[in-house]
Amino acid sequence: MRDAEPKAIHLADYRPPDWLVEKVDLDFALHPSQTRVTARLALRRNPKGAAGAPVVLEGDDLTLVRLAIDGTPLAGSSFEATGNRLTLAHPPADAFLLEIETLVDPTANTQLMGLYRTSGNYCTQCEPEGFRRITYYPDRPDVLSVFTTRIEADKQEAPILLGNGNLVESGQVPGTSRHYAVWHDPWPKPSYLFALVGGRLAKVADSFVTASGRKVELGIYVEEGKEARAGYAMDSLKRSMRWDEEAFGREYDLDVFNIVAVSDFNMGAMENKGLNVFNDKYVLASPETATDADYSGIEGVIAHEYFHNWTGNRITCRDWFQLCLKEGLTVFRDQEFSSDQRSRPVKRIADVRMLKAAQFTEDAGPLAHPVRPETYREINNFYTATVYEKGAEVVRMLKTLLGEEGFRKGMDLYFERHDGEAATIEDFVSSFADATGRDLSQFSLWYAQSGTPVLNVSGTYDEAAGTYRLDISQSVPPTPGQPEKKPMVIPLALGLVGPDGRDQPLMLGNTPVERGVVEVKEATQSFLFTGLDARPVPSLNRGFSAPVNLVSDLTEADRVFLAAHDADPFNRFDALQRIALELLKTGARTGTLPAPDALVTAARAILADPALDAAFKAQALALPGEGEVARELAREVDPDAVFAARKALRVTLGTTLAEGFTAAYAAGAASGAFSPDAASAGRRALRNLALDYLAVTGSADGIARAKAQFEAADNMTDRITALAVLAQHDVPEREAALDAFYRRFERDALVIDKWFTLQAQIASPTTLDRVKDLMLHPAFSLANPNRVRALVGAFAAANPTQFNRADGEGHAFVAEVVLTLDSKNPQVAARLLASFKTFRQLEPARRGHAEQALRRIAETPGLSPDVADIATRSLA
Ligand code: PHE
Ligand code: ZN
Repeated sequence: MRDAEPKAIHLADYRPPDWLVEKVDLDFALHPSQTRVTARLALRRNPKGAAGAPVVLEGDDLTLVRLAIDGTPLAGSSFEATGNRLTLAHPPADAFLLEIETLVDPTANTQLMGLYRTSGNYCTQCEPEGFRRITYYPDRPDVLSVFTTRIEADKQEAPILLGNGNLVESGQVPGTSRHYAVWHDPWPKPSYLFALVGGRLAKVADSFVTASGRKVELGIYVEEGKEARAGYAMDSLKRSMRWDEEAFGREYDLDVFNIVAVSDFNMGAMENKGLNVFNDKYVLASPETATDADYSGIEGVIAHEYFHNWTGNRITCRDWFQLCLKEGLTVFRDQEFSSDQRSRPVKRIADVRMLKAAQFTEDAGPLAHPVRPETYREINNFYTATVYEKGAEVVRMLKTLLGEEGFRKGMDLYFERHDGEAATIEDFVSSFADATGRDLSQFSLWYAQSGTPVLNVSGTYDEAAGTYRLDISQSVPPTPGQPEKKPMVIPLALGLVGPDGRDQPLMLGNTPVERGVVEVKEATQSFLFTGLDARPVPSLNRGFSAPVNLVSDLTEADRVFLAAHDADPFNRFDALQRIALELLKTGARTGTLPAPDALVTAARAILADPALDAAFKAQALALPGEGEVARELAREVDPDAVFAARKALRVTLGTTLAEGFTAAYAAGAASGAFSPDAASAGRRALRNLALDYLAVTGSADGIARAKAQFEAADNMTDRITALAVLAQHDVPEREAALDAFYRRFERDALVIDKWFTLQAQIASPTTLDRVKDLMLHPAFSLANPNRVRALVGAFAAANPTQFNRADGEGHAFVAEVVLTLDSKNPQVAARLLASFKTFRQLEPARRGHAEQALRRIAETPGLSPDVADIATRSLA
């Protein structure tokens, strides 16, 4: 058990470890309820630690069996073992071997941290603080050690035994039904990167030859019978390995690289050295079971975990405050990889959509925190959109400011200086400053200040002088613990679009603006552009060069113009979205949608433009989500009014552009065999968007088209979108299709997750009862995180009208589930609870209900630190 009231931990209190672990030998005797772990730690006093400090090791839920020092058993009087700590107040020497034997129960481990079982197999999850649930250890990322792991198990129960590093020995345990394997990882690593897997798994094997000619054996381990579904993951892995060599000069460094797919996992995947463990959602795909989004998710997550080998593993984090050092950087790297594999503009649009939906929302609510937090009570609650997504944006801005070459120099220097170390954000930023000679001190505010900056921009054209002046002011709204902010460095990529739709020269005085990026650094600042013979329309924040809320004086007509002509595809998308957002905001506030003519014109032009690819069109024509409208409204939000406005606008577009959508639907029909590539996925996306618009009124032919597609589909994308369209309408076809879908995919957990999600998202007052019924469905289980997220997570995060029901029943229901789940899996419970983060935007009645639900949780005795932390911060 953990401490009841975890104390706040502060970055400022960081001290180097008092003891280091030179090497560690682990011996696991796997057993369903009594796994015996013998750890031999070669401890050595850290000269940088506190003089005379005791040995203090972390532990959690361990049964201590035996302790020995240099081979001699330790008497009970010479140590103290509490639930969370093992203390040797008087270590015998400055270097000695400590042997610890513990028992752990993997079957009883429902929180899925440490050693646990999934589908009968054994696996581990140690980031951030799971290793202490395996043995007593200095469980902190700045203690790096060389691990050797012996795993022993019943050969029937666990024919496959995997560990970090390279396999050095394996065999039968004489006279028993047990066998063993010994794995050695030559690269020093912190305990959070430790992993082992034991079980009955099928292997998909391949190999990769590195740039320097070393052969690496690749293995993806999946449930028996699922081998054929690992092909895309394997292909993504090989492409990732090549790409990291080409784009960053980083080669793989072991003889083997293994991935194991498991069905019970708290997160997406984990980058354990040489042995990545994955939520099987990010490994398994077949055309019949996986959507295009699943395929791109697999490609991105496989890449992400692989890229951690350098950004995370070879260079790790000094402490958990530095989490974005590995996560933000690695997200940036996986985004770049996917951009190179697919369409760069479409990838950027998708990433920004997700950034705004998840991170901007987080930044605008009670859970806002800096990319590098300065304090935490429960680190598990900081694997957030801010650390990951905004963390990636900060790295992207660095690249925008320094240029391709400067950025690469900085990365190279970072790898050169810190390989083998546990580093900090200061180390990272200094590498770029030193490599390029730039002062990045103001830039570092991006790591320290929370909240999304607001950039106010207005332009003035002086016809006589041929100049255009941009007046810019910036501010960062107050966030928890940070009432006042300093001005940031904002790389603003821009263009001045002339009446012919072409970019005019971008000159400040006589100097061309380098790479089209100006740097906004002051609270207010003006830029005078010269040499313009006509009034330009400014295209601002191109490619979303900075993660800011831009408020400009552009007119609706300017936006229609940009949507049609901007050379920057992101801003064509954004112009259209902004027109729609303004309509939706007014519609939601007043109950009446303003005349949508400008939007219709712009949308029609995009839909008909033969130069644009389908994936882009699909993104541009999909209206901003309800969440984005709510965030833009910021206060007194009535989710029903938002939904109604959005529905009305969808009906308008669907009916006025019916001809265009009908043509797009027909043109998008598949030719030939299914392929998950980006262009094919884009065609499906546009066709399915058209299907949705054509059925939005619930007309008989719209429903019939959806039903026909549902029945004839040869791939999951087409089938599930057709089902989602039917599910939005209260028609008899809905229940029939849902039943048919369930029967068809009954044995396919990942597909049944989609079935749960789809129903949880129906915007109807009957949905809450449906969700409650589904919790009693034999296929539902609170023990499986994917299932909980699929049903309750989707209801709370992706059904704003029903989660925020006016009678408060949606909030009460989710709160109830959080409390039930908390005793089993606090991390998943805490994540679910974080869905309340937008409650302060709501109109008073709904806000009151949400607050009441949060209070009920906060006042419940015996909460996990995870849930207690989210509840407290949400209410603060
Ligand atoms: N480090 C994992 C990643 O790649 C995320 C993770 C965190 C997984 C904690 C499990 C537990 O982003
Ligand atoms: Zn990561």
